[in-house]
Amino acid sequence: MCGIIGYLGKKNAAEEVYCGLERLEYRGYDSAGAAIIAADGKICAVKKQGRVENLKPYLRDIAGAIGIGHTRWATHGKPCDKNAHPHLCGGLALVHNGIIENYAALKAELVADGEEFLSETDSEVIVRLLKRNFKGDLLAALARTVERLKGSYAVMVICEGIDAIAVAKNRSSVILGYGNGEYFCASDEPALAGKCADICVPDDGDFAYITADGIEIYNKTLQRVIREKRPNTAAAQSLDLGGYPHYMLKELHEAPATIKNTAGAFAAVEDKLKAALCGVDRIIILGCGTAYHAGLVGRRYFEQFARVPAECENAGEFRYKNPVVTNKTAVFAISQSGETADTVEAARLALALGAEVVAVTNSLNSALTRIASVTVPVAAGSEICVAATKSYIGQIAALYLSALAFADCDRDGALKRGLAEMSALCGKTLGQVNTYSLANMCALSHGVYFLGRDIDYAVALEGSLKLKEVSYIHSEGYPAGELKHGTLALIDGDTVAVALIFDGGLAEKSCNAVEQVLSRGGRAAVITNVDSVKKRFAGRAQVIGLCACDKFLSPVLSAVAVQKLAYETAAILGRDPDKPRNLAKSVTVE
Ligand code: AGP
Repeated sequence: MCGIIGYLGKKNAAEEVYCGLERLEYRGYDSAGAAIIAADGKICAVKKQGRVENLKPYLRDIAGAIGIGHTRWATHGKPCDKNAHPHLCGGLALVHNGIIENYAALKAELVADGEEFLSETDSEVIVRLLKRNFKGDLLAALARTVERLKGSYAVMVICEGIDAIAVAKNRSSVILGYGNGEYFCASDEPALAGKCADICVPDDGDFAYITADGIEIYNKTLQRVIREKRPNTAAAQSLDLGGYPHYMLKELHEAPATIKNTAGAFAAVEDKLKAALCGVDRIIILGCGTAYHAGLVGRRYFEQFARVPAECENAGEFRYKNPVVTNKTAVFAISQSGETADTVEAARLALALGAEVVAVTNSLNSALTRIASVTVPVAAGSEICVAATKSYIGQIAALYLSALAFADCDRDGALKRGLAEMSALCGKTLGQVNTYSLANMCALSHGVYFLGRDIDYAVALEGSLKLKEVSYIHSEGYPAGELKHGTLALIDGDTVAVALIFDGGLAEKSCNAVEQVLSRGGRAAVITNVDSVKKRFAGRAQVIGLCACDKFLSPVLSAVAVQKLAYETAAILGRDPDKPRNLAKSVTVE
């Protein structure tokens, strides 16, 4: 999973490619590279391990008007210069996003036939096959090449002696951009923000051939086809840190506005959503990582307000379990990026099985929204930090409103007003919650166990994910009652148990787990808005007290506390929370 960009026009291609790569870096930052057709017609390529900025000094002196670039999240082969794209062979340069599932067989065949590989990547087989198929017609050679590929790919190729970029796509995204005498191709729309007037999204199996005369699109049998163009409305991400040291902290402080804006945006889709859900008797919520955790909270809203069976499943698992879905099932697919391959493919499967598919996303022109019949917007704005913060809170708000609409149980608007009030409460919590001392305790620990019951358990899972993602400390989330069934064996003086207790009715039960930890010499903290719990553990555990709120909306406050805890732990340990090792913001491969 990676970001790819292509430029053909009158400007300096190296600069345009570099700009695109900076915007695409959220998709992977293991290595970056670019290839430009230089003034002498030869391909000039640079590839470097690490961040996009490493390319800057090398691209400065390359003149040329046609180029491609790549920012990598390693799947096959470790992050290093030789595995960086573009892959070069016989006057060709190629960048690839996706995974070639049959690459091992293809590579063996090519090696047996004398081909020498320079990298450990799956992608290199494409350029080596392409070289063998190339007889002067780049597009025809590309079409013959992709016939041999199994898997997902968005591929861009340039060739010495040909003033063109050839593009192929299957199950990996490509956007084509039409500017004034210049043309672009990129992995996503934000990469093209402000760069071109119109864009077009080709279908799976399509090819594009970009020259100074324009962009021609072909289907898989190389027949010319017309795909709909639309105005390019993408806004460039603001890279302004606004005085914060990291995007994670800045974005966490944007959570109150996210709740408010998500509620505002929901009004425009409420009726359409209600109509789409008419007759639905079962809800399935799908997502990965943080989005999955938001779904675990949202499931409770549908159960509570509408009293219909509601499940939440990991999207990657859903795809492969022969799911039971009928035309009375509504599938809510949650994704910040709208491009997560597991979630997009799960939504596609649900649609094929007859479900009503609803997208819950930040990205209103994404692969996910193209599948869904209704999109519930998460108005979080762009989220640059790889660790999701405000988008999680926005997803919870969007699911809360969706459940209310489906249940039609809030005729006087009291529950909606309750959510609106959470925006201010969230802001107050951000200003007051003090997690620094607990962060110091976590930073010195060997493991942190987040505990909770019911809706608190759902947030415990997210707290655990957030902490491990940005601090690299081992962590797990558990139902508070489950600890004694095995995990208690891990508790000692070097571990920390963090209990989330936001439901007065279940407080006593959750407190039992904290007592079990303390009595075995473990260190404990409670994050709670229950007064009796605050008093009970004062002096015995770290107590992080939050203000009273509706039990079903408490995840907004508990999420703020665990996100801040994760951020501060990462800061104490000197980690970069915005770009954690091994991760990427958008996971576009399986
Ligand atoms: C969140 O902090 C993670 N980076 C990750 O779990 C993320 O939520 C997951 O990859 C799903 O992404 P999506 O919301 O864009 O689909």
